[in-house]
Amino acid sequence: MTLQFSLVAASPETVETACILVGVYENGVLSSAAAKVDSATDGLIRRQVDSGDISGKAGSSTLLFAPEGVAAKRVLVVGLGAQKSFDAARYQKVSLEAARALGRLPVSYAVSWLTEIDVPGRDSAWRVRIAALAADHAAYRYTATFKPRDKNAQPELGAIGFAGKADAQAGLDQAGAIAEGVRYARELANLPPNICNPAHIAEQARAFAEGKDKVSCRVLDHVEMETLGFGSLLAVARGSINKPKLVVLQYDGGNEGDKPYAFVGKGVTFDSGGISLKPGAGMEEMKFDMGGAAGVLGAFVAAVSMGLKLNLVCVVPAVENMPDGDSYRPSDVLTSLSGLTIEVLNTDAEGRLILCDALTWTAQTFQPHTLIDAATLTGACVIALGKHASAVMSKHDDLADELLAAGEASLDRAWRMPLWDEYQSQLESGFADVANIGGKSAGAITAACFLSRFAEGQRWAHLDIAGTAWDEGRKGLATGRPVALLAQWLIDRC
Ligand code: BES
Ligand code: MN
Ligand code: ZN
Repeated sequence: MTLQFSLVAASPETVETACILVGVYENGVLSSAAAKVDSATDGLIRRQVDSGDISGKAGSSTLLFAPEGVAAKRVLVVGLGAQKSFDAARYQKVSLEAARALGRLPVSYAVSWLTEIDVPGRDSAWRVRIAALAADHAAYRYTATFKPRDKNAQPELGAIGFAGKADAQAGLDQAGAIAEGVRYARELANLPPNICNPAHIAEQARAFAEGKDKVSCRVLDHVEMETLGFGSLLAVARGSINKPKLVVLQYDGGNEGDKPYAFVGKGVTFDSGGISLKPGAGMEEMKFDMGGAAGVLGAFVAAVSMGLKLNLVCVVPAVENMPDGDSYRPSDVLTSLSGLTIEVLNTDAEGRLILCDALTWTAQTFQPHTLIDAATLTGACVIALGKHASAVMSKHDDLADELLAAGEASLDRAWRMPLWDEYQSQLESGFADVANIGGKSAGAITAACFLSRFAEGQRWAHLDIAGTAWDEGRKGLATGRPVALLAQWLIDRC
């Protein structure tokens, strides 16, 4: 369950609630809401700014408990950082940090006036949308595999209001739907691979489609894929006792006969590397190797929840990559669904081997208007772009631009890398039409080059989300990226 969102049109000092949030800049300037609270409390905020107790540093916050003169039980004064350089990214960061601070308080309802702060180039619907998504992001708790806790622990945030008028309502509605999709993606990706295996992803997709008349679900099992000739995908799956699935969700929200948009998401529920086994340190993070699948499914959930007037299909090749006596091996030559043969030089470059068959099948089956895949495809992408940007690769400049723009608008940002033909020669093989790895240099690009050979004639783009799909570290959680980017891209198509 996501947070409940609402709009509040009132002066901050008058609202009776457990906590209100107002902003202060680093230079001591109070936002207009903070100024109102300040005058209602006889200068309480001003004095603490002057004494240095409130720094205004971006992401900091100071709690004022039951100050006289305001109806709310608490005031959380949120630092906005330097006023001159305040921009959209800072607004998002501050919104998230404020929501985290709020989440540590024993409050179940709060109202934020941060949405009144001017953000260059963005309107109030955008501000409300970003703030609501940040609040829901911070409020998400992973609980699925803990011992159930006592109910009477401290109250948790369940609802949040944002200062805003009717013109922000669309932003709030979109936030509700996107938050639902982000939660769906995060929960699926956070689950351990002994629970979230290919069959689990198929069940979740089926459960989502159940009872929705514009949504249908279809799952191809390994026998059907064998018959159809998914030679590349099935080779990857062979080492695991958990049989692969091709999970297909279809949403008919647009005109009958309109070509659908198609998303394909890498669904490796655990990537051990296979016979080209990964080192032990950090291998547990490879449960997130279905982050692309989670992302496209989450975007699908958001699109359905918004009731977007378009047709959309979502295809998830779900497999586990394991070492076994029956595993595929380096030097094997596979025949893909497209007919192209592939020399396996490294069984850890498995993502592209499942995606190529999924791309071929999706293109053949749906003749989509546009085909976009999302995948935690390469460590090289993390080296190139780090944790902040997903990589976009496409031969279609207009499509790449659309995705970059959607990333900017949603602040789920992406950066383009080249997909020039010059890189293709790195994939030459002496034994097959193509090799599955391209050597040391430009690993994210050569992975995309590999995929491009299976997207011939398609209006196609590839998103490498290896750096953005989850937060690093022992307690790192799935981020839900690129749900917001893809949802925005779909909104922009309507
Ligand atoms: N799932 C990994 C990519 C990955 C690595 C994502 C680290 C996030 C963090 C992918 O299947 C993989 O193992 N790729 C190899 C490719 C190589 C063998 C050409 C890699 O990046 O090392
Ligand atoms: Mn791998
Ligand atoms: Zn992988």
